Amino acid sequence: MSDRKILVTSALPYANGPIHLGHMVEYIQTDIWVRFQKQRHQQCYFVCADDTHGTPIMLRADSEGITPEQLIARSAEEHLADFTEFGVAFDNFHSTHSAENKSLAELIYRRLREGGHISSRSITQAFDPVKNMFLPDRFIKGDCPKCGAKDQYGDSCEACGATYSPTELKNAVSVVSGEKPIEKESLHYFFKLPDFENMLREWIAEGHLQNEVGNKMNEWLENGLQEWDISRDAPYFGFEIPDAPGKYFYVWLDAPIGYMASFKNLCEREEDLNFDDFWAEESDAELYHFIGKDIIYFHALFWPAMLKGSGFRTPSAIFAHGFLTVNGEKMSKSRGTFIKARTYLDHLNPEYLRYYFAAKLGSGVDDIDLNFDDFTQRVNSDLVGKVVNIASRCAGFIHKRFDGMLSKHCVEPELYDYFIEANEGIARCYETREFGKAMREIMALADRANQYIDEKKPWLIAKEEGRDEELHEICSMGINLFRLLIVYLKPVVPAMAHQAEIFLNLEPEAWPDKAEPLLDHQIDVFRPLMTRVDPDKIAAVVEASKENLQKTEEPKPKRFDPIAEAIEFDDFAKLDLRIARIVKAEHVEGADKLLQLTVDIGDETRNIFAGIKSAYAPEDLIGKLTLVVANLKPRKMRFGLSEGMVLAAGPGGKDIWLLNPDQGAVPGMRVK
Ligand code: MSP
Ligand code: ZN
Repeated sequence: MSDRKILVTSALPYANGPIHLGHMVEYIQTDIWVRFQKQRHQQCYFVCADDTHGTPIMLRADSEGITPEQLIARSAEEHLADFTEFGVAFDNFHSTHSAENKSLAELIYRRLREGGHISSRSITQAFDPVKNMFLPDRFIKGDCPKCGAKDQYGDSCEACGATYSPTELKNAVSVVSGEKPIEKESLHYFFKLPDFENMLREWIAEGHLQNEVGNKMNEWLENGLQEWDISRDAPYFGFEIPDAPGKYFYVWLDAPIGYMASFKNLCEREEDLNFDDFWAEESDAELYHFIGKDIIYFHALFWPAMLKGSGFRTPSAIFAHGFLTVNGEKMSKSRGTFIKARTYLDHLNPEYLRYYFAAKLGSGVDDIDLNFDDFTQRVNSDLVGKVVNIASRCAGFIHKRFDGMLSKHCVEPELYDYFIEANEGIARCYETREFGKAMREIMALADRANQYIDEKKPWLIAKEEGRDEELHEICSMGINLFRLLIVYLKPVVPAMAHQAEIFLNLEPEAWPDKAEPLLDHQIDVFRPLMTRVDPDKIAAVVEASKENLQKTEEPKPKRFDPIAEAIEFDDFAKLDLRIARIVKAEHVEGADKLLQLTVDIGDETRNIFAGIKSAYAPEDLIGKLTLVVANLKPRKMRFGLSEGMVLAAGPGGKDIWLLNPDQGAVPGMRVK
């Protein structure tokens, strides 16, 4: 085993939102890889941090009436708790709002500027005249200039997919104040990415990227690189740019520097760890960034160029992964498939998910799907049905009949060696992030172990006189095979492996490339290491995720859409609006939306069919006062004649609200 020096990162989660299962794909994937390296005794460090700067965090804190510092402190605590319970074991979890990050960001910026890679010029941008701030594209909404869809973001339309600039939006409003944005000029600073075109071409050709990612990068290079706007105007939550008062680094400038800052912070704690060994230009350490496919551009173009331009080493590789879908679709709040890490942890064993993701992950950027039936089936049949089962089939006899001691010699050395030799192939899969393949190879071994026990039938031998030694050897063999399966699975299910080590009475186990079988070895009593997935718990997760929706839904921007042309007073006066009392309300046979109302409008009663069945039960309406349009021409409907209209507000469904006059009004009064 070579002694490699490896620094690994996962992308830094934004501090303005909770960790969800989509995030967990990445943190679990990285953690498995790091645990594998550590189990092989490589010198491997795993650092991460919260990504704390930018407009969304500033505004979010504002709307909660707290400071950004308070918001990010709370997020850090929640994020770290989620990660820890999922078994994600960072060597350091830091923050981009830290002294280390500030000084590194300034250093990198100064070096880039000295190298002539920073430019500045005035640009015009949307500005909120009420909040006195420039507006990022995502904080402007309006009608799509291409298809007219309402309520679209400033950069792209979710209805037709068009992309455009916020100035092209029709009826644009600031999401922050509801006001119409104005245009305003301001000085911005740029990182001259085109200076690095040749460097990037070479770097990509050297093979630091997955094939599909490298191809995408080359496409981007063909289209020509643009200078990158790295400054934002106050008010902004971030670091002020040196020698540029009132200008702040754009969050994406200091975010990746957060990888260095987190490591620097770790070096300050760990004496024999040296920052330069990992980050200096001539460093021979390996540096890997695990990221999602949505942030490739930042990591494969800007980041290597920034590092190069400021005299640091570039990454050894960027490992991009795909996105998580749930039941084949994008995670959706209303379907209950937008699942927070915390919600999952409230109900289910985190190692189920670690195993499930591992079984589905490969080295490419394909999306992966979480399907709960498949999840249940895989966990139950693989981990519980195959792996844990081996131990439970053998441990009882070892205890009852042999005082918990394993036999003195290995009865099937070839089978044992076959299991040991499998380590190389499995290690190769882990190393190349082909976790799905690794899980398949391990489960094939588990099948082999179960087959061995099926053939030997210890439960029959146990009943026969004089076959004690045979029974002892078979069961000991089973336990030895179980032990190897667990060591191979350890990067994926560390908590279960830890329980197994206690059961096997072993110190934390290294990668078993030359492990001898356990002979004449005392083991502990067996307790079930993992139970089957309880379908009720899955239902509870989905249900709770739907509930979260109601609690966390953000207020929509205020907005008044004129829906009709202006009218003269005479037009309004043509309406005969009356106070009415509902005297009778009934279901209408065959109508799923309508209720039949009898309303008293003073001198007479009217029969009205109203489309309010989804929101009101008839018995709740009787006696209520409301408003009706009394001179609407009677309309013949399938169920009878409707002689007017009751007035209500709301979008429909459960959200329909009948209008009610204030106390004192009586049926027949004119409304004007
Ligand atoms: N703050 C930036 C990263 C800065 S790195 C210097 C960011 N944060 S994030 O919270 O939006 O995402 C963190 C990581 O989780 C990213 O790598 C992102 O791709 C990943 N994922 C977020 N949602 C995901 C899924 N639904 N599925 C898989 N990964 C997802 O981006
Ligand atoms: Zn559109």
